Amino acid sequence: MTADPPQQPEKTIVLVGLMGAGKTSVGRKLATMLEMDFVDVDEEISKAAGCSIEDIFEDYGEEPFRDVEERVIQRLLQEKPRVLATGGGAFMNPRTRPLIAECGISVWLRADLDVLVRRTSRRGGRPLLKNKDHKATLGKLIEERGPVYAEADIVVDSREDGPEVTARDIKQALLDFSSPTGQEPR
Ligand code: S3P
Repeated sequence: MTADPPQQPEKTIVLVGLMGAGKTSVGRKLATMLEMDFVDVDEEISKAAGCSIEDIFEDYGEEPFRDVEERVIQRLLQEKPRVLATGGGAFMNPRTRPLIAECGISVWLRADLDVLVRRTSRRGGRPLLKNKDHKATLGKLIEERGPVYAEADIVVDSREDGPEVTARDIKQALLDFSSPTGQEPR
């Protein structure tokens, strides 16, 4: 007996949220569950530029990075539906948000400050946190960005018990989002 194929969303699932929220690890799991392709926007930018995000910030500054980020997301949203992990600042772009609203389903992966601090301390390569107090910086970013992330179509808490559990929560939230009455979508 073969299992039914998973119900795939018709739009790209766009994961947004702060550094350390788990967008990439959860996104990969979610894509596997939904049998969709996964793309990490920062990885795409890095590939296109031929260097790391850290180097882009260092050599050119944040503004050129944001321009490339906007264009890469624009391109990816015009392609086939998939799971997209964006960098933490991408959803703050006032031109990117309406595009995501039109072509995708946005999911805010929400996490507590302590969780973000713990997770970001495990991996470097994040220019906004370089040589900074992670707790103070992330705390400020939560205040600034939280209200904007809250505009996402779906809000899911990033769980501490592994990306698979959070990915399952998103999968369920997507089903509820596409058929809020509880009926199976036709
Ligand atoms: C950024 C987050 C990073 C990366 C860049 C800027 C931000 O991505 O895009 O360093 O503005 O929050 P992650 O959220 O994947 O770490």
